[in-house]
Amino acid sequence: MRSMAAPNNSGDTKSPESEKSAPRSTAAFGAIRTLRILLVGTIIVPLLLAAIGGYFSYQASYHAAAAALAEAVAVAEENTTKILDTHMLVAARIDDLLTGVTDPQLRAQEKTLHERIARQIEGLRQVAAAWVIDANGRELVSARVFPVRRDLDHSRREDFRALRDARLPTFIWALRARSLGRGDFEPYFTVSQRREAPDGSFRGIIVVAVSGAYVASFYNSLLGGSAQYAASVLLEDGKSLAHYPESAEQPESRQRDDVLAAAIAAKATAGVIASGSPFSRGGRLVAYERLANYPVYVTIERTRASIVGEWLQNMAGYAAIGVPAAIGLMLLSLLALRRTRREQRALAEARDAIAERAAIEAQLHQAQKMEAVGLLTSGIAHDFNNLLTAVVGNLELARVRAGETSAVAPLLKAALQSAGRGTALIQRLLAFARKQSLDPRSLDLGGLVSGIEELLRRTLGPEIRLVISTDPDLAPAHVDANQVELAILNLTINARDAMPEGGTMRIALANRRADRNSPSELAPGDYVVVSISDDGTGMDEATLAQAFDPFFTTKEIGSGSGLGLPMVQGFSVQSGGTVRIRSKPGVGTTVELWLPQADDPASGKAGDRSLLEIGRGTTCALLCDDDDDVRPFLSEFLRSIGYTVHEASGGEAAIHILESRAEVDLLIVDYAMPGMNGIETIRQARLRRPDLRSLLITGHAGVPSNAGVPLLRKPFAPDELAQRVAEILAA
Ligand SMILES: Nc1ncnc2c1ncn2[C@@H]1O[C@H](COP(=O)(O)OP(=O)(O)OP(=O)(O)O)[C@@H](O)[C@H]1O
Ligand SMILES: [Mg+2]
Repeated sequence: MRSMAAPNNSGDTKSPESEKSAPRSTAAFGAIRTLRILLVGTIIVPLLLAAIGGYFSYQASYHAAAAALAEAVAVAEENTTKILDTHMLVAARIDDLLTGVTDPQLRAQEKTLHERIARQIEGLRQVAAAWVIDANGRELVSARVFPVRRDLDHSRREDFRALRDARLPTFIWALRARSLGRGDFEPYFTVSQRREAPDGSFRGIIVVAVSGAYVASFYNSLLGGSAQYAASVLLEDGKSLAHYPESAEQPESRQRDDVLAAAIAAKATAGVIASGSPFSRGGRLVAYERLANYPVYVTIERTRASIVGEWLQNMAGYAAIGVPAAIGLMLLSLLALRRTRREQRALAEARDAIAERAAIEAQLHQAQKMEAVGLLTSGIAHDFNNLLTAVVGNLELARVRAGETSAVAPLLKAALQSAGRGTALIQRLLAFARKQSLDPRSLDLGGLVSGIEELLRRTLGPEIRLVISTDPDLAPAHVDANQVELAILNLTINARDAMPEGGTMRIALANRRADRNSPSELAPGDYVVVSISDDGTGMDEATLAQAFDPFFTTKEIGSGSGLGLPMVQGFSVQSGGTVRIRSKPGVGTTVELWLPQADDPASGKAGDRSLLEIGRGTTCALLCDDDDDVRPFLSEFLRSIGYTVHEASGGEAAIHILESRAEVDLLIVDYAMPGMNGIETIRQARLRRPDLRSLLITGHAGVPSNAGVPLLRKPFAPDELAQRVAEILAA
């Protein structure tokens, strides 16, 4: 029997009549996690791929740009070499032309020579001008101008001085000069050659000039006119000979290119240099190459931002395909996630519903088991009740007849005590089976508790403090007084056992209304709640779950029957209320008895003993009981206290006597009898004698508590019968 527990998972509050399983929290499902990862993946993976792809594609763009620059600079180198070669050739021709001609002769033949030289450079667009300067720095003859201005002194020109003093064979020089056509200052560079007499003495220089515009137009066609590019022709010392696109401040900005300057200083012949960052305005990629036969460098550069721009354009193509695909994938996994969530929610709900059903089935099973046990118990208890009524009654009579001083008196007393214990056990069994014959009346529970306060204190012992608090407006309860006392006593004993080291037990009495927060099995309405709490050991969940099972006890064999709480519960439920228990290990336990409020004011407990005198000797009682042991004993007792008694062994016989004998004042009738039962007998009797008083005595389970008939439970002591009879007659 110790294992008869219904599954319970409602935490540490237990309301035994309504064990509902709380909806179980839904576990985290693997599928959802996978889909979440997938969703994150659909965002992260494309981003990652884009980043990796972008990085490599940028590298490719960068290297392609560098290669293109290197290629272009190679073309530029070749072309510039050609230009310079042409100049050298032109200078050599002019030198040849003038070989053996003295300066005075030359001056004399200026016109012829001018024309011949002009013919030499005719059709060479790269040659802007060519002229000859004598050893004193005066112009001798020019290809473009005739006659030359002899008054101008060129001896201070850099190329003149370099060729004369340093005896260099050639000199390349950048300058800005007035253009012959438009007269504006334009960039030029010149290639000058030293003229020597056969003895090696200095005879002057031949100057061939290239216009910057020509170089620029070459680069323009090489670079396709793109503004992303810039190109320069530089001397070894970094001085700019020509620049594309033409702009006044470019030569200065060239100087800032330290890396390039360093490369030139190191006499590097070709290479590609990156400077700045791809995102700054100054970031550039510069390809340079040294001319094979001249101290001249050509460079072509491109802004790094333009490479990034080109790369972004490429990427935009991929993005146009990739982004919609990635978004589509993301939306798909989002959709899948939502669907899975929905399905799993439904699954969880179904699972919860199944679990709830299983719990309800288990409860039902348990209830059916209890019902069966209850039926069995109440059947046995009923028979024992009758036996005990006879045993107790006869022992009582024997004790009275033998007298206090008799030798058998102690034996009879001991037998009576044992029978009393049996009676108590039967009461508990019946209470648990909810088959006890209750006698509910309107009762002031405050008064009842203070009436038994002394008994409770004695039960608890000196180590435990008892605190009682009562609602001043406490309503009367509609309950059986003896059973309430018994219930409170049971709970007090439990509290005492839970506080072996001492503590405090509190009894609180209060009016409560059953609403949504109240135990769900309660009908809506007003209740009186007796709450008994202790600060003792408390119960763990397993114990709490079984505390209301009959015969469940954690106490040592012999010290607990495990019927205390079942009795309290059975009684409360049978009275139209319920029990609630809360417990926490180490904190304590609170048991609440919810008992229905009475509609009428309290009528108090059993009446006082003086009532016993009422009606004696003058009253005629009709005693109806089918039990041949019980009936003679009861009539014997009633007669012994002065009543006139008629006996009937069944309902029909009783009615028959009633019809023939008008002197009957009181009908005392057993409930369970073959044929007509007690209640039916009383009904029939009242049809004939509406003023007839009646008392139903019963040990039977099935008496409806609202039968409207005064009730006395078997087994009872003869005194109890006397008192009830007196009460009824006095009422
Ligand atoms: N106030 C309490 N504090 C801690 N545990 C309790 C308390 N009341 C009941 N219990 C636990 O519930 C079990 C069942 O209680 P119940 O009153 O039904 O039986 P019992 O006290 O063991 O025996 P009986 O009351 O029949 O003598 C107890 O054995 C005890 O383990
Ligand atoms: Mg107990």
